[in-house]
Amino acid sequence: MSERTYDLIIKNGTCLLPHPTEARLIQAKADIAISGGRIEMIADSISEKALKTIDAKGLHVFPGVIDSQVHFREPGLEHKEDLETGTRAAVLGGVTTVFEMPNTNPSTTTKEAFEDKLNRAKNRCHSNYAFFMGGAHDNVDKIAELELLPHCSGVKIFMGSSTGTLLVEDDDTLEKILMQGHRRVIFHSEDEMRLRERKHIATEKADPHFHHVWRDTETAVNSTRRLLRLARKTGRKIHVLHVSTGDEMDMLKDAKDIATVEVLPQHLTLFAPDCYDKLGTYAQQNPPIREKHHMDRIWQAVLDGTVDVIGSDHAPHTKEEKNKPYPSSPSGVPGVQTLVPIMLNHVNNGKLPLERFVEMVTMNTARVFGIKNKGALRQGFDADVTIVDMKKQKTITNDWIASRCGWTPFDGMQVTGWPTHTIVGGKVVMENDQVVMPSQGKPVDFMDTN
Ligand code: DOR
Repeated sequence: MSERTYDLIIKNGTCLLPHPTEARLIQAKADIAISGGRIEMIADSISEKALKTIDAKGLHVFPGVIDSQVHFREPGLEHKEDLETGTRAAVLGGVTTVFEMPNTNPSTTTKEAFEDKLNRAKNRCHSNYAFFMGGAHDNVDKIAELELLPHCSGVKIFMGSSTGTLLVEDDDTLEKILMQGHRRVIFHSEDEMRLRERKHIATEKADPHFHHVWRDTETAVNSTRRLLRLARKTGRKIHVLHVSTGDEMDMLKDAKDIATVEVLPQHLTLFAPDCYDKLGTYAQQNPPIREKHHMDRIWQAVLDGTVDVIGSDHAPHTKEEKNKPYPSSPSGVPGVQTLVPIMLNHVNNGKLPLERFVEMVTMNTARVFGIKNKGALRQGFDADVTIVDMKKQKTITNDWIASRCGWTPFDGMQVTGWPTHTIVGGKVVMENDQVVMPSQGKPVDFMDTN
């Protein structure tokens, strides 16, 4: 009988595998065989042949990292980013799948706009992709159908205005949206009424140090309190994006039955006033980066299980735009390429166990969004794999950034821990900081409820 030849075997790596009975990951030495874009076998040792073999001795092998919050700006704002440059940045950073946000121009609020994004993405994305549908006043009645469009990662609502025009600020409309459909609804939670009342602080002070004073703790807390009340009233599950205050974490800790929680590497790494001293408007984002006591409580929430997911909120703006005087400068910082190295550095500094980090960008992400066939190194699953060298020391620099904006708030930061290979659908697309095979990305499939 002739011996089987696989497309790819990853040998000798330390793999992050699902625990046999519990919802967590364990580290184990294993070989992984891949063919036809699927994981065919995971075993202590695989001796069959392969068209390509990666020796992962000394390296860690993760399920492909999923970044469930990126803004790639196409259509309409391609001078900041497009689907090709955004997904190039993703795979260079060890990310195999992205979920892209609806605040483009036009906003993604109709079937036509959504399908336009899918058409644009076809054969141009280095990573896998899905898109969010924006919830808005004018599509409330169609939300239940729209959330079920193939490759839709869910409905995203801006409760406070940020970049773009999407906004649902009032409880009546929010309740109507929550009453329709079944999938988890995703929220940017800042209270628009309070933002409007206090905007004068930003205008009068004209200094990014006051960004988190204008968009203060109460702005976030009021909004999340309203949101939790509406979720309870309607019985609908919600996902609260980029939680930036310790006070919200206290509320969300007791709401795990109904609410899942995302945090960002920025909120775990940068804090006020230092970040505004060093970066000025280049640290300006919504919700804002706040004082260290919030950062410390967000870390606590990561460790105690309140937090489910880490996303980047990759939100590129050009240097020219960021150089405008505050508050004319737009909010948002890029992050899809730096998510993995920044978090691996935190792991190496003893801030969290490696397993916990990987859970929050793979297994948990798949659970929260109801992703089919991804999020685990498991036989039969899609062969999306991120390989990292936990010992590799590098300095993050603007030169390395593939995003069209060409900068990162982490420029000059020395980190330990770096992605060495990004494998998308069984194909090695990034190796040694180079994109070696373009456009392997496919649209992601979802369950009808999550
Ligand atoms: O700072 C932000 N920028 N927060 C958001 O929610 C949107 C993002 C953007 O798209 O620029």
